[in-house]
Amino acid sequence: MKSQDIRKAYLQFFESKGHLIVPSAPIVLKDDPTLMFNNSGMAQFKEYFLGNATPKSNRITDTQKCLRVSGKHNDLEDVGFDTYHHTMFEMLGNWSFGDYFKKEALPWAWEFLTDVLKLDKDRLYVSVFEGNEAENVPFDQDAFDIWKQFVPEDRIILGNKKDNFWEMGDQGPCGPCSEIHIDLRTDEERAAVSGFSLVNADHPQVVEIWNNVFMEFNRKADGSLEKLPAQHVDTGMGFERLCMAMQGVTSNYDTDVFTPLIAKVEEITGFKYTTNEIKDVSEEQNKTNIAIRVVIDHVRAVAFAIADGQLPSNTGAGYVIRRILRRAIRYGFTFLNTKEAFIYELVGVLADQMGEFFPEIKKQQALVTNVIREEEASFLRTLDQGLQLLDKVIAETNGKEVNGAKAFELYDTFGFPIDLTALILRERGFSLDEAGFDKAMQEQKSRSRAASEVSTDDWKILVEGNTESFVGYDQVANEVKITRIRKVDSKKDGVLYQIVLDATPFYPEGGGQVGDRGTLVSANETIEIIDTKKENNLILHFAKQLPENINASFVANVNTDLRAATAKNHSATHLMHEALRTILGTHVEQKGSLVNSKNLRFDFSHFSKVTDSELQMVEDFVNARIQEQLPLIERRNIPIQQALDEGAMALFGEKYGYNVRAIKFGKSMELCGGIHVNNTSEIWDFKIVSEGAVAAGIRRIEAITSQAVKDFYTSQENLLGEIKTTLKNPQDTVKAVVALQDENAKLKKQLEALLKDKAKNIKVELAQEVQLINGVQFLAKQVDLNPEGAKDLAYELGNLGTNMFLVLATAEEGKPMLSCYISKELVAEKGLNSGLVVRELGKFIQGGGGGQPFFATAGGKNAEGINEALSKAIDYIK
Ligand code: ALA
Repeated sequence: MKSQDIRKAYLQFFESKGHLIVPSAPIVLKDDPTLMFNNSGMAQFKEYFLGNATPKSNRITDTQKCLRVSGKHNDLEDVGFDTYHHTMFEMLGNWSFGDYFKKEALPWAWEFLTDVLKLDKDRLYVSVFEGNEAENVPFDQDAFDIWKQFVPEDRIILGNKKDNFWEMGDQGPCGPCSEIHIDLRTDEERAAVSGFSLVNADHPQVVEIWNNVFMEFNRKADGSLEKLPAQHVDTGMGFERLCMAMQGVTSNYDTDVFTPLIAKVEEITGFKYTTNEIKDVSEEQNKTNIAIRVVIDHVRAVAFAIADGQLPSNTGAGYVIRRILRRAIRYGFTFLNTKEAFIYELVGVLADQMGEFFPEIKKQQALVTNVIREEEASFLRTLDQGLQLLDKVIAETNGKEVNGAKAFELYDTFGFPIDLTALILRERGFSLDEAGFDKAMQEQKSRSRAASEVSTDDWKILVEGNTESFVGYDQVANEVKITRIRKVDSKKDGVLYQIVLDATPFYPEGGGQVGDRGTLVSANETIEIIDTKKENNLILHFAKQLPENINASFVANVNTDLRAATAKNHSATHLMHEALRTILGTHVEQKGSLVNSKNLRFDFSHFSKVTDSELQMVEDFVNARIQEQLPLIERRNIPIQQALDEGAMALFGEKYGYNVRAIKFGKSMELCGGIHVNNTSEIWDFKIVSEGAVAAGIRRIEAITSQAVKDFYTSQENLLGEIKTTLKNPQDTVKAVVALQDENAKLKKQLEALLKDKAKNIKVELAQEVQLINGVQFLAKQVDLNPEGAKDLAYELGNLGTNMFLVLATAEEGKPMLSCYISKELVAEKGLNSGLVVRELGKFIQGGGGGQPFFATAGGKNAEGINEALSKAIDYIK
């Protein structure tokens, strides 16, 4: 079966068992501080397990794009070296939210693998949790009994907490699990050594393909387990491994998920990959194979992350993506001899292959390609620089061991990979002081850990139940009760309290719009709410202190001034988005947005600078919509498909529910949860204040609306007023400025001519002052010229004869400067060096500088030292 068909068969099978098929959530998570990337199918359903939200259906199935490159589940460093781990992989999953449990889940898994896919039963092993006394979780007798109906007992493995108790992270839902493993070795190998002993033993052909987790617990901040309100099933099947089993190969990379990518790398680089069937390959070939696996694995992770809105950057998730790409570039550079960008060329193959099921990669192919190409080019430049720096480090090394702290500097400042450093050192007969490197690394890690330390308490629950309730589209004040409270202590923000309300008017940060601020007011006290954010499905109100009586009734008041100003900027953002797509073209996709009460910032894909006239057109377009006084048409809670059919714009990388909210102003229609004006006339005015690039193929526009535009023009008016006053109120200001410029240009010319004359005179005078000392023509003197003039003069004097040693000082506007000229023959024969001379003499004027052996300059701070510097110059020739 082709991979496409395997995926379909899985989804259809679970659809036939009453499951709703949903799309994969984006790879990058936006509102879960405990997780950067989706690392498993269940991450997007976490709140259903915890009982904080209710799913649309209690049986769901999908294939999820997962990334295991940070946090608890991190496979990055293994990828490439083995044949069955990946950075990005697809996880097929079926879920029961408080619905079916073990006695359905396990037989269905068996039915799908053995009846539908017809995998050989003799090759399958299953595992069940053996129990753990310390955690007070017993042996999973139920799962064991169910499996016994299908599998002989000698194929059922009892697994410990490490293998058979699944947790998404340090905190969160978890439970015992039951895995299915497959033995893909040859019959001879299987006869010789039983697969039983190889399960969970890192054998590349005896691998886990499916995990059924029975979610019953929540791991709390203090490490203890608490029972969840209901029992759930969370499953995950490794799609690429299933393809390996189904396609009769022994490596994920030999399946049709990867072979088209391999073919393209071979075509570009000329290196050949050997499949896993070919054993005993040379060490060289093995390195080639590893490098090709790294490249084709990593391009998938990076391309999908970018398509889901995560650009490579220097912080957070963006940095993880950058590092993955750099790892691929580095393997190509070292083992596939690629000295120019090439990974971007694989995006087309990926889009052809995956685009049908994941349209985001096809639709954004151009952007993804551009971003990767730029990243490659810039990292290759870094590698080049790094190689030069490494040469220097080696040259400065006494002995054969290179200082670890120096290597760390290369790694830390330039992103130069440490394994590449080690490799190059080995090739040159040097070694790396690894202990020193590790120490520097540890020191830096603990510095940054200390800086980002956060301790989060468990929730104190005041009112049980579903906590998701937002009334802020209709109200800006509401009577509320506090349902949960949590204390968070971080190095960055100090102690903050997160407060959850039963029905809040506060808008939580999202869709680019900042969170509301305001107050919580009870009969006796007022608490400031300084920010509002969403975490999964909870709306968190941030406060520096808690009310004394947390059980009181409060009125939650949104700060309406801030909110109204923010709403104007948000609606203007929609209008500008429409303007950009109308004026620049429909390739414009939103890539980021920030809307607050002061201004708006909008990032979008576009491959060249937006010209001034285009910007003017965008501004005019938005202002025209404002003048048309378009009413807000808000469609709340409509099925997503209906909204899309009506022409609503959706964003890549955004997670939408089944029912959505659409915001319409005239022809602009977007899926959006934000706060908007009731009529575009409320925006008053719209003005673009800047346009620039943020990354390859991504532009950024900043703009203002309403009062800010008025303030802007007022300040422009004031500025003009000041200019006029300064010019003594001419009748025609522009004419006056032009006249000033003309006059200035004329004066400059005259001055230059005068200076030239003066230099000529000085030259004649000075030529006579040159003294012959020890066979050297020497002169050290202060001249009344600017530094540029002194340089010209030094060259001209120098050209008058041989064996010249000249030091000229200037002090234009009190700033001392020394220029030293030494004839080439003195440099060559006597080893004199202008650079050295100005560095040493520069000390007298409190400065420094450098240059070449025959000419160098030094600037300083202390003009008083010039005489002393000049008097010392003679020492060099004495
Ligand atoms: N959440 C389980 C896993 O990722 C299914 O293995």
